[in-house]
Amino acid sequence: MVADMEKGADPYWLTLQGPFGCGKTMLMRQVFEQAKRINPGNPANNPIWPPEWESSEQHVYTGRRPYALIYDEGGMASRMRAGQYDLPRELRDDYFVALDEIGVTRDPTNFIAEAISTFCDVRLRSWTMLATNLSLQEIADRMDGRIASRILRSGNKFIAITAGDYALRD
Ligand SMILES: Nc1ncnc2c1ncn2[C@@H]1O[C@H](COP(=O)(O)OP(=O)(O)OP(=O)(O)O)[C@@H](O)[C@H]1O
Ligand SMILES: [Mg+2]
Repeated sequence: MVADMEKGADPYWLTLQGPFGCGKTMLMRQVFEQAKRINPGNPANNPIWPPEWESSEQHVYTGRRPYALIYDEGGMASRMRAGQYDLPRELRDDYFVALDEIGVTRDPTNFIAEAISTFCDVRLRSWTMLATNLSLQEIADRMDGRIASRILRSGNKFIAITAGDYALRD
């Protein structure tokens, strides 16, 4: 994925699926660091880009902000509950967005499932990375079939990690 971002290839999604502690978050953070570096919207990479944008991850929605960003499901939900209701939609134009821990939060009202469905709709054909402990079938059953279907859309990649829990090793 990093090599493809570097080449300027057509964007796709990369979904990591695997048990607790198999290294999904670690991989995601590494790709995120590379995406920040490659991001053509980063003023450091593009001298003609409007320079007044802050590169910080904490920011107000301006309508155009191709950042590289990383969230986890719980963090996204708390931002939305704290007033950033439109957060999933606001991420539409960002260069790279990673969303970790899909399906871990208790979601009796389907609030999170809906937010992630919206996120999936607006992020199609943009560099996007997802991580989850759930199988696609579990995502379809417990959250929304649309989420599972978009994860498999043409061009998107799905990787099931089978390594054991590194945290439980010596
Ligand atoms: N390839 C690796 N080699 C050695 N240690 C690793 C490797 N990948 C991850 N780890 C370590 O294993 C631990 C768990 O990794 P990580 O948090 O990325 O897992 P995860 O898949 O995100 O787990 P969870 O589903 O619980 O969020 C971390 O302490 C991490 O530093
Ligand atoms: Mg994790």
